[in-house]
Amino acid sequence: MASVILGILLVLFPLPLSAKAQTRGNLTSGILLTTNDGNSSLLSPSAEFTFGFRRMGRGAYLLAIWFEKIEDKTIVWSANGGNLAPKGSKVQLTADRGLVLADPRWIKLWSSGLSGTGLAYAAMLDTGNFILASRDHVNLWDSFSQPTDTILPTQQLGQGSRVNARYSETNFSAGRFLFTLQADGNLVLYATTSPLVSSDAYWVTDTVGIGFQWISNQSGQVYLTSRNGTVLNIVTSGQVPMGEFYQRAILEYDGVFRQYVHPKTVNSSSGWAMGWTMVSSPVPSNICTRITRDTGTGACGFNSYCTLGDDKIQRPRCHCPPGYTLVDSTNEMNGCRPEFVLQSCDVSRPEKDQFALSDMLNTDWPQSDYEVSLSDTEDWCQEACLADCFCAVALFKDGRCWRKAIPLINGRMDGSVGLRALVKVKMDNSTSTSTGNGQKKNKNSTLGF
Ligand SMILES: *[C@@H]1O[C@H](CO)[C@@H](O)[C@H](O)[C@H]1NC(C)=O
Ligand SMILES: *[C@@H]1O[C@H](CO)[C@@H](O)[C@H](O)[C@H]1NC(C)=O
Ligand SMILES: *[C@@H]1O[C@H](CO)[C@@H](O)[C@H](O)[C@H]1NC(C)=O
Ligand SMILES: *[C@@H]1O[C@H](CO)[C@@H](O)[C@H](O)[C@H]1NC(C)=O
Ligand SMILES: *[C@@H]1O[C@H](CO)[C@@H](O)[C@H](O)[C@H]1NC(C)=O
Ligand SMILES: *[C@@H]1O[C@H](CO)[C@@H](O)[C@H](O)[C@H]1NC(C)=O
Ligand SMILES: *[C@@H]1O[C@H](CO)[C@@H](O)[C@H](O)[C@H]1NC(C)=O
Ligand SMILES: *[C@@H]1O[C@H](CO)[C@@H](O)[C@H](O)[C@H]1NC(C)=O
Repeated sequence: MASVILGILLVLFPLPLSAKAQTRGNLTSGILLTTNDGNSSLLSPSAEFTFGFRRMGRGAYLLAIWFEKIEDKTIVWSANGGNLAPKGSKVQLTADRGLVLADPRWIKLWSSGLSGTGLAYAAMLDTGNFILASRDHVNLWDSFSQPTDTILPTQQLGQGSRVNARYSETNFSAGRFLFTLQADGNLVLYATTSPLVSSDAYWVTDTVGIGFQWISNQSGQVYLTSRNGTVLNIVTSGQVPMGEFYQRAILEYDGVFRQYVHPKTVNSSSGWAMGWTMVSSPVPSNICTRITRDTGTGACGFNSYCTLGDDKIQRPRCHCPPGYTLVDSTNEMNGCRPEFVLQSCDVSRPEKDQFALSDMLNTDWPQSDYEVSLSDTEDWCQEACLADCFCAVALFKDGRCWRKAIPLINGRMDGSVGLRALVKVKMDNSTSTSTGNGQKKNKNSTLGF
């Protein structure tokens, strides 16, 4: 059946079956692209956007859309959940399933699906939208309706739409943050891709019942409107002379939504650097202190703490407390693990003397408390934590002693915290009576106490 339809299409549109290298304009059915260097991409008429295979590593390709004329060829959309396809993969245009990404053995990796019948052509438009359309130019599928992490000028998203952060700067698989215009009209940033409770949210427009559409207009501002077009919330307000800049707004892997512009041409008198510049306040303004989930990792991983960077885009940074080290040295967002053997809970072998508390100013893990007691002095609180094998962090405040356990969550170090956390660490292990677990890491015991 499908092949019959394809045959008819080919008669109606006698265009070449396979795309030539960097084809401009529209195509019919058949193999659109392969990862072969010769015909792996399609340009928009202005040549500003490309749809195609991007080589991401040895023999691994991402099917994506990117800014063609920018040096780093910034990706704005990707297929297949951001997962890579092997060398020899291809994209087919089919009458019933739309775009199909298949591996060299023709096993389907991903397909776009279609919202109707009569597929006639695919086209990469100058807006950055890749469309599948019928002969009467009705859109049967388009990339603007299936955003990944980026929103481009003229893109409009309805209720139920989702924008997902990627895993890291260079890994396009799903990360842990979600920006969604819910069916109830609320536009919400969540610290998890499957939110369950309202505390999973870290930024909301509070527009239940009235939020209708989420728009990036010609000049790149992103805002929420009601059904009658009234602007309910301006998410990013940056404005630059239209036509002179490329624009994008993106929910980055760090959970922050940012609006960026990039000059189209070098213009020494304009004062703009040839790169992406953030032109609106980041949303939220301080993700380190905004997340208040009682489960999950927070902005950083377990046992770490978050600080707001002092760079231009205020990138949040994740750090390990004293005595802890990164679980994954290639990704600071993946949390920290203790470098020392934890305190034994065996009462016949108390280890209280082998541990000490290290001061951390303006630091807290507010959702990690497991015990609170009245305490006249901080000294009492320190003793209580040292004597308690479960205690990883103590915090004394207003006559109360809070004890916190690992994994520590939602850690932040910020001037607004105004508290001093006391982190339990093992002192020099040379005095250790050895806990039997011989595999200790080369620990750095210059902890300053
Ligand atoms: C190509 O696509 C554009 C944009 O959708 C459309 O206006 C044009 O008619 C198409 N051309 C052909 C030959 O199908
Ligand atoms: C483009 O892909 C088709 C289908 O795989 C292939 O037959 C053709 O040789 C390729 N063209 C170039 C220039 O690589
Ligand atoms: C990207 O991250 C995911 C999730 O951790 C992982 O499964 C995948 O292998 C990573 N991809 C690459 C190319 O590193
Ligand atoms: C949309 O774009 C125009 C200019 O193109 C601008 O003046 C306007 O303020 C923008 N934002 C909103 C929320 O309408
Ligand atoms: C448009 O919708 C908003 C929110 O529902 C409402 O407050 C406003 O009065 C409406 N404006 C018009 C002109 O209908
Ligand atoms: C360069 O920048 C100046 C100042 O912003 C502007 O007036 C001028 O039109 C720009 N020139 C070009 C070629 O974009
Ligand atoms: C601490 O333990 C590690 C691992 O067993 C060992 O290599 C190191 O020498 C010890 N440090 C001291 C000061 O004994
Ligand atoms: C311990 O820390 C000091 C100061 O940061 C550093 O110079 C030294 O190389 C570290 N030693 C080890 C074994 O990591």
